[in-house]
Amino acid sequence: MPDDFVENYRAYKQKRVIKQAAREEAKKYSKYANLRIKGSSDEGIEELLIFHTHSIEKGLSHPHFRPNFGKNALTKLKANLEEFNQLGLDKDSFSYQNAISVLRSYKEKHQNMQIETPNFDSLFGNINLASASMMAGAKKFANSLNDGVDFKKVETSRYTQREFADGPLDEELYQEALSMAMKSPSVCNRQPWHVFFTQNKAKIEQLISIQSGFKGYGLPPSLSIVTVDRRAFLGPYERNEPYIDGGIFLMNFDMCLTSVGLASCILNLMLPTNELDKLRNILKIDDAQVMIAMVAVGQPKQQLLVAKSARKDSATIFTEIQ
Ligand SMILES: Cc1cc2nc3c(=O)[nH]c(=O)nc-3n(C[C@H](O)[C@H](O)[C@H](O)COP(=O)(O)O)c2cc1C
Repeated sequence: MPDDFVENYRAYKQKRVIKQAAREEAKKYSKYANLRIKGSSDEGIEELLIFHTHSIEKGLSHPHFRPNFGKNALTKLKANLEEFNQLGLDKDSFSYQNAISVLRSYKEKHQNMQIETPNFDSLFGNINLASASMMAGAKKFANSLNDGVDFKKVETSRYTQREFADGPLDEELYQEALSMAMKSPSVCNRQPWHVFFTQNKAKIEQLISIQSGFKGYGLPPSLSIVTVDRRAFLGPYERNEPYIDGGIFLMNFDMCLTSVGLASCILNLMLPTNELDKLRNILKIDDAQVMIAMVAVGQPKQQLLVAKSARKDSATIFTEIQ
């Protein structure tokens, strides 16, 4: 058979798989994304609260303050809070506390400037804002521009490590890194991430064998699976955002692991849907979650060989537009 024919046929078959995978992805996104104004589920309403809270937070930090700004966001936040109450959800939750805190900041900012807020009062007059925390709002921030030295050190000393010291993971250090990684930026501060973590040897063995990009290395002491919840996203144009927020979190988490002295290797999940489903089954992860990547984490070896993974010069990826 001529080579050209075989090549073309292979390309044709791959295009069909791409279309099918895209259709499957679109189906899942349509099923789980938050396409209504109100939350479509308990989780949806929390994401909407965070979304509208953040919109008001941005207004509060605006250099040109507009008195009584954000009529639309305030009205929506009011509707979200009502739905939250109707669903009987936990008022100690982050999303609720964050929302009433931003309302308090909004009111106080206007009070401090001696500006009346009739629209705000008619919407939220019945909520006791005095007891809200100060977690949300705007704050003065001083850049300390010469303090980047530590970050430079982490950035230049991070290498993917595929071997680990014997013994269990220091879970305290791991949790410290995870907690630091929560500082990752995300669209409208939605923080749609989840980390599924296992130290179960049998499960790690199964996961590594399905992933198949870690051949020839010993089993890592732990695996973390980073996912993003599709329910955090609100419409058709956000359909790729889970991958962006997920990627940002993944990278930041990896840097945080390095900074606390743990060794790690990110493991891709570029797998056919049926293989991903096997992973989901083992970990009991539902379809609402986008599977971003796994991270093998363990204690660092004293010495090991790492791939150099040389980088291109930044000039080769830079184009200035006049
Ligand atoms: C999304 C992603 C997936 C990766 N998947 C694998 C993998 O499956 N197996 C592996 O050994 N390394 C994997 N890596 C590690 C890369 O090979 C490594 O980051 C790259 O060569 C740069 O080297 P460095 O991390 O040491 O700077 C992955 C990295 C990323 C960011």
